[in-house]
Order: sequence, then C-alpha cells, then structure tokens
Amino acid sequence: MELSRRTFHALAGTAALGFALTGSGSPTSANASRPVPTGPPPPVPSADGGRHEIGFDRHSLLVDGRRLVLWSGEMHPFRLPSPSLWRDVLEKMRAHGYNAVSVCVAWNYHSSAPGRYDFTGVRDLDLFLRMAAETGLYVIVRPGPYINAEVDAGGFPGWLTATEGTARTSDPTYLRYVDEWLTAVNAVVAKRLFTRGTGTVLLYQIENEYDAHVDEPAGRAYMSYLYEKVRADGIDVPLFHNDKGRNGFWVPGSFGTGGEKGRWLYGFDGYPEPDEVPPDWGHFGPGGAKGGATASPRTPGFVPEFGGGWFDPWGGSRFGGKGYAEARRTRDGAYERRFYLTNLANGITLHNVYMTFGGTSWGWLPAPAVYTSYDYGAAFDEARNATPKLAAMHRIGQLLRHVPDLARLNRARAVRATDKRIKVYHLTNPDTGAHVYVLRNDSGEAVTTTLPDAGIDVPVTVPARDAKLIAANLRLGRRTMVHSTVQPMLSLTAGRQDLAVFAGAHGDLAQVVLDCPDEPTPMRLDPEPAWAYNLGKLNISVPLGAGGLSRVMVEGDGVDTPMLMLFADDATALRLWPYETPSGRLLVYGPALLRSAELRGSTVHLTGDTIGATGLEVWGPRGITHVTWNGRAVPTRLSASGSLLALRPLPGVTRPVLPALDGWRRRTENPESEPDFDDSGWTTADRRTTFSTTPVPEGQPVLFADDYGFHYGDVWYRGEWTDGGGVESVSLAYSTGTQGLLMAWLDGEPLGTHRMPVPDEDRARQGTWTARAAFGIPEELRKRFREQRGRSERHVLSVLVRRMQHDMDGEALDTHKAARGLTAVTFEGADPEVTWRIQGESMPDPVRGPLNNGGLYGEREGWHLPEYDDGDWKDAGLPRADRRQGVTWYRTDFRLDVDPGVDASLGLVLDDDPDRAYRVQIFLNGWNMGQYINDVGPQHTFVLPNGILRTRGSNTLALAVLSDGTTPSGPGDVRLTVLGAAAGGVPVRPV
Ligand code: GAL
Repeated sequence: MELSRRTFHALAGTAALGFALTGSGSPTSANASRPVPTGPPPPVPSADGGRHEIGFDRHSLLVDGRRLVLWSGEMHPFRLPSPSLWRDVLEKMRAHGYNAVSVCVAWNYHSSAPGRYDFTGVRDLDLFLRMAAETGLYVIVRPGPYINAEVDAGGFPGWLTATEGTARTSDPTYLRYVDEWLTAVNAVVAKRLFTRGTGTVLLYQIENEYDAHVDEPAGRAYMSYLYEKVRADGIDVPLFHNDKGRNGFWVPGSFGTGGEKGRWLYGFDGYPEPDEVPPDWGHFGPGGAKGGATASPRTPGFVPEFGGGWFDPWGGSRFGGKGYAEARRTRDGAYERRFYLTNLANGITLHNVYMTFGGTSWGWLPAPAVYTSYDYGAAFDEARNATPKLAAMHRIGQLLRHVPDLARLNRARAVRATDKRIKVYHLTNPDTGAHVYVLRNDSGEAVTTTLPDAGIDVPVTVPARDAKLIAANLRLGRRTMVHSTVQPMLSLTAGRQDLAVFAGAHGDLAQVVLDCPDEPTPMRLDPEPAWAYNLGKLNISVPLGAGGLSRVMVEGDGVDTPMLMLFADDATALRLWPYETPSGRLLVYGPALLRSAELRGSTVHLTGDTIGATGLEVWGPRGITHVTWNGRAVPTRLSASGSLLALRPLPGVTRPVLPALDGWRRRTENPESEPDFDDSGWTTADRRTTFSTTPVPEGQPVLFADDYGFHYGDVWYRGEWTDGGGVESVSLAYSTGTQGLLMAWLDGEPLGTHRMPVPDEDRARQGTWTARAAFGIPEELRKRFREQRGRSERHVLSVLVRRMQHDMDGEALDTHKAARGLTAVTFEGADPEVTWRIQGESMPDPVRGPLNNGGLYGEREGWHLPEYDDGDWKDAGLPRADRRQGVTWYRTDFRLDVDPGVDASLGLVLDDDPDRAYRVQIFLNGWNMGQYINDVGPQHTFVLPNGILRTRGSNTLALAVLSDGTTPSGPGDVRLTVLGAAAGGVPVRPV
C-alpha cells in the first residue's frame, strides 16, 4: 500500500518518539524491535548542545530515530598542513552532497616520543572536529592505533619501531603505548561527540583491516582490549572495524567477549579494479559469513573504505607510477556510478570514499609505497580543485540527502531490461512505495533499452561502462513522479513552490512522467522542454544540457503549490546548490561553489566561489527580496520561475601573476665526509641488541638508526679506526624504503653512491629492502695507506644513508621494525676495529613536527628555515650542471601579491633532463613540502598550501639537492605555477 506523504510523516514522528521511549537507555543501542519507517532525512548536524541517539537497524543508521544514509568522503587533516584550508575542503564536500567526512588520525604525526602528544597547530584535531561540525558534516574518526593509509610505518611513531613486543597484538608493552595514544586522542574526540551535542563525531573505528590474528585468542583479545579502552575513554558512539574485504571478520559477537554486541557495526572495505564487473557485496549478495554485509544481517550495509582513486608509486621501474591523472582517468565519474550505485543497490547505506581529498604526504610522511603527492585521483585534487568526477558524487549525494526513500530499500521482484546487456537492480521502499532501479551497463557501448516489466516503455540510455539510477512512484514535493529516464537529483520546497531537479549526461533525453489527475497548464521557462498530457499523466521530455538549465513550471493541476522542474546535464548540475537554513531551504544556481547561505531579514547572504563570470539565481523562502554575494549587494529581479535573478553576472577570477624564481644563493655541505669533522657530539653506535626484526650481524654493533632515536630522513655514520692499511674494499649492507640510497667517503674521498634497487613486490611486502654496496678503495687512497703502514694513522669512513621510510605493517608482522640505515659493514684486505658514531635529525621541530626534518647538516643547522641568514652564501644562477657527490643547498626569497579575494592554489614545478641523477628536498618557509627525484619521477609539481605559503608577502624557498656525482646535477628549471584559482575562498591564517 502506498502511504500518503502526510501519513508517513506522522508515522515517522511517532516512531522517533517510540524509539526514544523504548530504547535501552544506551545512546547507541541498536534498535530493531520495530521497523522504523522512512520519515524525512535527519537535519544537518551541528554542535547544537542537545543529546542525540545514534542507533541502527539492518537498513541504515537511525539518528534520533530518523534514518540516515551516510555519504562520506575521506580526507586526512595531516595531509593538509594548513588548518584554514581544512574548512575549504569541508565546505566543498558539504556543498557537493557529502554529509560526512572520515578521517584517519596518525599516531606518528602527534607523537615525537613516548609520553609526548601534541594536538596543537597543524595537529589541532579539535579544531578540525569543530570545523566539521560548523560545516554540517558528521565525522567518522579512525585513530588506529594502526592506520595503514600509506603513511610511514602505517602511522606507528618512529620511536615505536624500537620498542619491545609485537605490535598489533595483545602484547603488554605494545598495549601500554597504545593506551597512551588512545588516552590522548580520545580526550580530544570525546569532547566532540554527536551524542553529547558538542560535536558531530558519529562513528569511531578501531584498528585497520586487521586480518592477521582473527582466529587467534591474541587477536581477539587485542580487539576486545581496544574496544573496552575506547569505551572507557568515554566514546559512546557506535564503534566498528573495517574488514579488509568481504570476509566476515569482526562481525558483532566475534571478539569472544560479547562486549561489543549491540553497539558495534560491521564494515568491509572494497577496492575493485576499474575493469571488474562490480560485485554484489551487500545485504542482497550471496549469503553466509563470506557474503559481505550479509555476514552481519542485523547491522546496516557499511563500506568504511571504498576506492575513490588509487595511490601511485615512484616511477622509474616496471612497477613505476604513471602520475595521478591516470588514477583519475581509470576511476572516473562512470566508475563511481557503476560501483557506488551497485553498492547502494546492495543495501550499503554507510558509504565512505577513500580518498575524497587525498592531499600531500609532506615531509617524511609517505610510506615506502608512495611519493609526496597523495592526490589519489580523488574527486578533489591535491590543489583543492573540484574535478569532473564530482558530477557523479554530487548527483548521488544530493539525492540521498533530499529523497529519504533511499534510506530503506528492499530488494524487489526481478525486472529485466529488453537489452540483456543492462543489469537491473530493482528495489522498493516498503513505507513510501517508491521504486528504485539501478541500471548498469558493463559493455563497451552505450545501450538504450526499456523496462517493460516496470512499466517503463520509453527508452532509457546508459552510456558504455556506466550506470544510472532511475525511480518510479516517487513523491516529489506534493506530487508523484510516475517514472523518469534520468536520475532525480533533489526535491525541496523553497518559498511558494516545490522544486525538483533531474540530472544526467549531456545530451541524454530526460522523460519524466508526473501524476496529474487534473490537466495542468505547464509553463515553459526555457525553450528545450516539450510535454504532452494524456490520461492523467503529464509527460515531459527535455534534452539535457542543450541550454544550460532547462525549466518547466507545473501548475493548474489542482495542487495548491506549483512545482518547478529543473533539468541539468552534469556540468550544469555542478552549479546547482541546495542549502538548508533554519528558516527554510534554498536552491542557488550559477557559481562554481556555494559555501554558505544565511537569511537575515529579507536578505539572503551567500558566500562562495566563482571561476568564470557567472549568472546567479536564487530560489528561497518567502519574504527574501535581496541577495548579497561574498558581502556585496547583488541587484536582482524576480524571474518567471520564482527566483531572484542577478541583473549582472558575478565576476570571475583574475588569475594571479607569479614572479620568476631567481636570485638563488648556494652553499655546499657534508662536512661530515671530511676526516677532521668534529663528531664528538654524536651518539656512539655500540649497542649489541635491538627490538628490530632485522638480525644483528655476528660480532658487529647495532647500526640501525631507530635504535639511536633517529627515525626520519637522512642519517650519517662515521666509522673510525687507526692503522687500517691494507683495506682493499668495504662492503656496506643497508636497508631503506623505496628509492633509498647510500653515499660513502673514506678519509674525505668519495667512494661512490649506491641506490637501493626497487624490490619486487614480494620482497617489498615482506619489508626486505636491503642491499649491499661494495666499494673498492681507489688506488690513490691505497697508495696513501701503503705509505702509512706501520704508523698508527686514523681513518674515517663517512656514510650518508637516505633511509626513506619505514614499512607499513599491513599484515601485522612487525615489518615497521625492519631496520633503516646501515645494517652491517665488512672490509676486505684488513679487519680494522671500527668505532661508529651516528647522527640523524636533531630535536623535532616544535611547530612543524617530528616528520619535518632528517639529519642533513643543513637541516641540523637550520638552513631550511626562513630566519636563517644566508648572507654569506654565493650567488648562483639556475640551471646548474655541477658534478659532485653530496649535498648542496639553494635558497631564494620571493614575494607574492595575490588579491585577498582570490583563492589561488600554487605549486612548485621542477624539471630537468631525466638522465641527471639527483634529488631535491623542498623546504618552503621551513616546511618540508616533499621530495623530488629527477631521474625517477613521476612527480614534478609540488603543491604549496596557502598558510604555509604567504600569498601576500615574502617566502623563502630552500632546496637541499643530493647528487650522486655520476651525472651533472640540477636543479634545472624551478618555477611557480597556478594550479587553481577562484574568486572567494576561505580566510587563511598563516601557519
Ligand atoms: C586500504 C587501507 C587504507 C589504504 C588503502 C589504499 O586497504 O585500509 O589505509 O592503505 O588500502 O590506499
């Protein structure tokens, strides 16, 4: 039976009440005793001071008794080191239809030493959570302790790699450190829980894709421990874990302790290849423990991570990365529709896309698997620009937000398409009687079909390798849509009229049938729409995108409120912005982004971005007669479609003009390679035991850098002995992440550079990135040795190791504890007794954090810092062609004068002859913005986030160039570039 709108609203009201009264009293109790009807979607969340209940049944989350489909995107605050810009990304997500943001919190980012936890500055998690609440987004918090996420050691702090015990188990030493971390991070999170009305944290994840000890008591005890710890810290929202696939691991009840039952969601991650046929992974797929969400029949379908792009490895080998344009091409909007709509059709109502804004693995954050950029090919690029992929997300997100029927769908009777290439999923909402059809085309050609079983006899087109959601018997405002051939995108009431938006591919023919018992008198507001009335049905057809937005007003059909129907192709839909205000809803058309809308008196104050000049049109509540845009009055007139229409276009952006980078100053370093360098302040490397997984060679000291407290970036060794005459060669075994290297000098003479070969996938997985660099002693030195024989001469072997990063520990084998740095040193021709000293990074930068610096001389001396006085450095023009083994620094200052009303996203480009073997560590105003490897790539452009970059003022750029001496070295071409520009943006505070 179809319920009238009024009936089901009434039902929803009583149901919400019933839930509150019959709930167990626990704010997160799973309420499943009585089916909860559909009802309107929950309001936009905020820190509203009230208590809230977060429950669920098998269909969806139930927030204060109302169904919520969670349409979430992943971003990592630690990958955008400029807190002001968090707000920019959050506002963009919210505007494009996401209602939640999921964040990993990386332990290593906040902790430079045991007992030391920092949540200030770029690490201000509380600020992030507040911003998300202010933006109206729910938050999913994922603090690990292990997060994977392509960060150094999977998020484990460097210092943890040198501690006893096995990580990711119930080992007591490990758990003691885990307690420290969780206590610290939970103190922040507990203050921003949605249950308390002090924030919008809705869900909380423990661990990450933990599949190593699932069937063992130690694994279960570990998960159970984390669960209890998080609860003890006052986190009362539902908890969950992300199963690594549709394995049925960690479903409710699987800890063996029972503690997690009832307040625990089951979720599983999915990263299908773009050329796969999307699998049926949800409630309606094949049953049993391996059946994805069917493994947990009482909790809603939940994918905590579903691929929204993919990470890219370093270039230069057969596994080499191709750059992120490739990830964005293979996982484009059509991929999103094909996979995500299949997910919805399979009962997934909690959906998080990893990544939605990938950002930058700046400093020494990246795991060995990736380079600096973590753009991910995501819907928002690393420079914070909206990409065309958003067309799919925006359309689906707005639909889920505005059309509540999708929150409770059951599989319905099979419906076939006349063309067999189209797979049809048919679902219905038992409360509203709405039907939803997901049509998927896995073939390589566009297919046009009909669905006679569903009474849809008009042609529906699905492009090649794409999918489309259409609906039937759907209430839109006060009318019922019989069916449509394109996706309904939203339905809302603004002022005196109902609005309904339909969106699809450019050129698609939208055919929408409305139930109109009385013949209406439609009004054509744009030339494209055509219609016919027949037997109580109004058939409207509109080719999408022919004239931008196409409008038809339906009225005179006996319904007291007119309905404006709007038709948009993807590009047009991306300029349509619904917005909820406390006094009613709005729809804004035109600008590149709507950030906020506020009603004060008869004026609506809008803020947002424009790129090109654009019209502005606003449908809003009654009584609104004036509009401002970014604080300026916009003269408008009332249009025939009931909107306020700007009389003149809003201006677009003027792209900033950038200065050339010149005036470089240069200084070489590595005094550590000189025999007389004073290393008396260095640490003696004389330990005999380690907690590393790398064995200590018989009879040798531990040389692993982490054992001496050096965890990030470059590390120096100086081995000293007397009377080593006769040494013919030296062999240096070492271990690094991808693209590590080692350089050696004996008595100040370069012995050579060795580069870590790129391991095959298996070895990389096991973390065995080890190599042996064998250097013969040059004849000149040997001669010197022969002459010295018998005289007790002192010799110094200096070694610089670029360690790159620690392995992640995806399989819980302690691979993050594999050694970094030298592992063993042997000589031929003599067997000197060597005393080793080691030096890596100095004290962690109090502002920029522990991952900003390695142990280069210049870094230890502050050459990367803006306040450093380089007055005595030599002037140097670029490009360079020096040939030298070692480190050379280049510094320059540049001024920017970007208009304060412009959000310009700038990047630094480095380019050179790809045969030149050198790499560059890029420091902007002291911040380590990443590593460029000239002969490896693929990254040439480095995003410089505003806040670190002073867009109005002076900046210092310092480049630490490491060259191996086998080829001429750069830098070659170094320049600034504009990666995106919009008039608008958010206020940016200097970091
Ligand atoms: C998942 C993991 C994430 C991330 C992703 C690939 O399996 O949970 O943390 O590593 O793979 O980007």
